[in-house]
Amino acid sequence: MSYHKLIIGNSMSMQEIEDESVHLMLTSPPYFNAPFDYKDLYHNYDQYLNVLQCVAKEAYRVLENGRIVVLNIDDMLINGDKFPIVADATKIFVDAGFRYRDRIIWKKPDGYLRISRRSGVILQNPYPMYFYPDNLLESIIIFQKGRFDYKSIPKEVREASKIDIKEFSDNKWYMTIWEMTNVLPNSELEKDIAAFPEELPYRIIKLFSYVGETILDPFVGSGTTMKVARNLNRNSIGIEVKESLIPIIKKKMGFDEQMSFLDKDDKLEIIIRDDKNEYNCQNQWN
Ligand SMILES: C[S@@+](CC[C@H](N)C(=O)[O-])C[C@H]1O[C@@H](n2cnc3c(N)ncnc32)[C@H](O)[C@@H]1O
Repeated sequence: MSYHKLIIGNSMSMQEIEDESVHLMLTSPPYFNAPFDYKDLYHNYDQYLNVLQCVAKEAYRVLENGRIVVLNIDDMLINGDKFPIVADATKIFVDAGFRYRDRIIWKKPDGYLRISRRSGVILQNPYPMYFYPDNLLESIIIFQKGRFDYKSIPKEVREASKIDIKEFSDNKWYMTIWEMTNVLPNSELEKDIAAFPEELPYRIIKLFSYVGETILDPFVGSGTTMKVARNLNRNSIGIEVKESLIPIIKKKMGFDEQMSFLDKDDKLEIIIRDDKNEYNCQNQWN
């Protein structure tokens, strides 16, 4: 039986979540003013970085010692200028107290053409200086709060959470490049949400948490992380600023109609804050 909590509010504060009560944080923050998905969402880049700073600070507070934070994030090209989001996010999480543990590159299939073919510019103007490569990559950056105490996990929980080494080897989880197919832009539940494929939280949850533990996604979008957490017998907490996504999250998680393969006793609690657009994080970097 698993418990799931969806908080509708701004994840710059995680006021409902107790200190050291989360075992893994896994998320894909909005990409700074991405031309199609988040155009002009933030007034400027500093405002965007401040959101990440607040989330990093709260993540450090709510995460148990030794545990992992995973961000799926990438640099963003806007009007010909690339914003170094991966580098800045890494610095922000390290400044918040985390150890920088690893970086995996997610490679999408060669035919991935979600937004535009940037390389098309040079086809129209086949001259020097018109080159912008098509981007097939995103980063998955991994941080750790202190060191993990391997002896803290009971033997039966360790066994119940065992990683299938055949799956690990066959699907090449062992490399720093993960080839995964992206969610197609016109797929029903993820329309207008830059969702990641289930394969991403599936790998991360299996590799960095034990059954019965709690997974947090502070930018939960369509609820992909919560769905996979439920399927893998983990509890979850999702934070999402858009109240309109509640029915999508419920549907994706299988809470709108009971699906026979899921535990009927699983619970979903929904908390709707009234401060969702107003929260302003005070933090040590300002
Ligand atoms: C990249 S999407 C996440 C998609 C998600 N991984 C999925 O698979 O559906 C980022 C989400 O963060 C939400 N968001 C943006 N700023 C937020 C904030 N300050 N607090 C909570 N949610 C926020 C957006 O509304 C959007 O749904």
